Amino acid sequence: MPKRRPSRVPKPDAVPRSVTFVGSEVLPFAKTGGLADVLSGLPRALGRLGYDVTVVMPRYKGIDAGVWTGRLRVPLPGSPPEADIWEQEIAANVRMTFIDCPTFYDRDTLYGEGNDDYADNPRRFAFLALAALEYAAQQSHPPDVIHAHDWQCGLVPVYLRARPGSFETLANTATVFTIHNLAYQGLCASDWMPRLGLDWSLFGLNGLEYWGRVSFLKGGINFCDLVTTVSPTYAREIQTPEYGFGFEGILARRSGDLVGIVNGIDAECWNPSRDRHLPRPYTASTVTAGKREAKRVVLERYGLAGDEQTLSRPLIGMISRMVDQKGLDILTALGDELARLGASLVVLGTGDGRYENFWRDIATRHPAKVGARIGFDESLAHLIEAGADMFLMPSRFEPCGLNQMYSLRYGTVPIVRATGGLDDTVRDVGPQNSEGNGFKFTPYSSAALRGAVERALTAYPDRRTWKLLQARGMREDFSWDRSADEYVKLYERAIASRRVAVMT
Ligand code: ADP
Ligand code: GLC
Repeated sequence: MPKRRPSRVPKPDAVPRSVTFVGSEVLPFAKTGGLADVLSGLPRALGRLGYDVTVVMPRYKGIDAGVWTGRLRVPLPGSPPEADIWEQEIAANVRMTFIDCPTFYDRDTLYGEGNDDYADNPRRFAFLALAALEYAAQQSHPPDVIHAHDWQCGLVPVYLRARPGSFETLANTATVFTIHNLAYQGLCASDWMPRLGLDWSLFGLNGLEYWGRVSFLKGGINFCDLVTTVSPTYAREIQTPEYGFGFEGILARRSGDLVGIVNGIDAECWNPSRDRHLPRPYTASTVTAGKREAKRVVLERYGLAGDEQTLSRPLIGMISRMVDQKGLDILTALGDELARLGASLVVLGTGDGRYENFWRDIATRHPAKVGARIGFDESLAHLIEAGADMFLMPSRFEPCGLNQMYSLRYGTVPIVRATGGLDDTVRDVGPQNSEGNGFKFTPYSSAALRGAVERALTAYPDRRTWKLLQARGMREDFSWDRSADEYVKLYERAIASRRVAVMT
């Protein structure tokens, strides 16, 4: 079994805390959404603080990082008995640990094909949870905290607390469970209980049962020491029926242990002054020229006209999973009006077929005003953040959201719905356009969305006011270092309040 390398042995005078992250996607190895950004940025920030960090994830198809360090027994019924372990140091004090089990992870996509999840996802992610615990338990210095993320890792606290005796060396390890998105609850039929090696006594109201089915997410919430989510507003919202997706009662019961911490952004990767995807990187003092060059390239890439008139017309950008969460219904309901707003519009994303088709169609009907790119393109995402004048996020709900923070850093003014992390990071300019860093609307309606866009378009021609608005956004500190300090406090609290009893 792999042991920690000598370089990582803590100094005798200051034994650092150690945290093991368990997650299903981590940049730059695998990404479908913001979770991957978070599981890359937060561990690195903790590493800079001297924390000893391990990040455990599946070794999906195509991942060739790491060196083979051993094999691990993973006692899950009906699954391969062992996994290979590959490890790689990725930053100061941060190591990746890849769980290699081709039966489960050597597939073309992370979670499923088309709109269908893989039928064995419960087993794939139970395996990840157990393997991570087995790995952590065998270290010569077991972690102080295991930090599991989203439904895929919901069974981490469950296996740890509900199988007493299995992980004796983790008896002093605290667990933190972070909800990045309550809409994904990790549901499966109840007959999975024995197949996941879980005793039926855990299938209770205070255990994993959710309307007759098993919920991995509920398991994570009920069995961890502390629950977090990715913004204070979302932490409040999910305790209400409107945003709770049926989990409001479960969360309200743990409200004393539920903490919202806004995500940070990777300030190196998303830095307009050093961004290799931009034609002309820029700082706050060169923002106008830098953004104009980027805008020229964006328009070109989308096949929109590059004449002076188009260049001086405001450009609204949007990069998003095309799903209901992101407000696509109230946005697409505006139909052809979108092309008559007095702005150009460029969209990048993938998701529901009906939304993808909407954007393809409207771009075909209005080739001079609307550009659509259906796909996932990291480089184009950077270019849009720089080239757009405004960035649109009309989300129905948004646990945190990262693009509004990238936008602020790039001098691109966000237009957002006041929900979750968007509400916590964007402050409205107010009636005189003289404060704040963006434009916000509250009612979830096409009219309110159009109103906010119109306010932004009316403010845009006043160059002085607009520059001040951009400058305020560019000055904000959304670095991970700030959020990591909050996690450090949270970990100390989790260690102090560690639970020992099984909760059912
Ligand atoms: P979510 O995780 O709900 O999708 P976030 O705002 O937290 O939303 O994070 C989304 C991340 O994925 C951002 O880094 C965003 O730039 C990126 N992203 C989303 N769609 C695309 C795409 N089609 N191409 C490139 N990057 C994308
Ligand atoms: C989820 C949320 C998003 C959040 C991200 C990272 O995918 O939808 O709002 O920023 O996780 O925490």
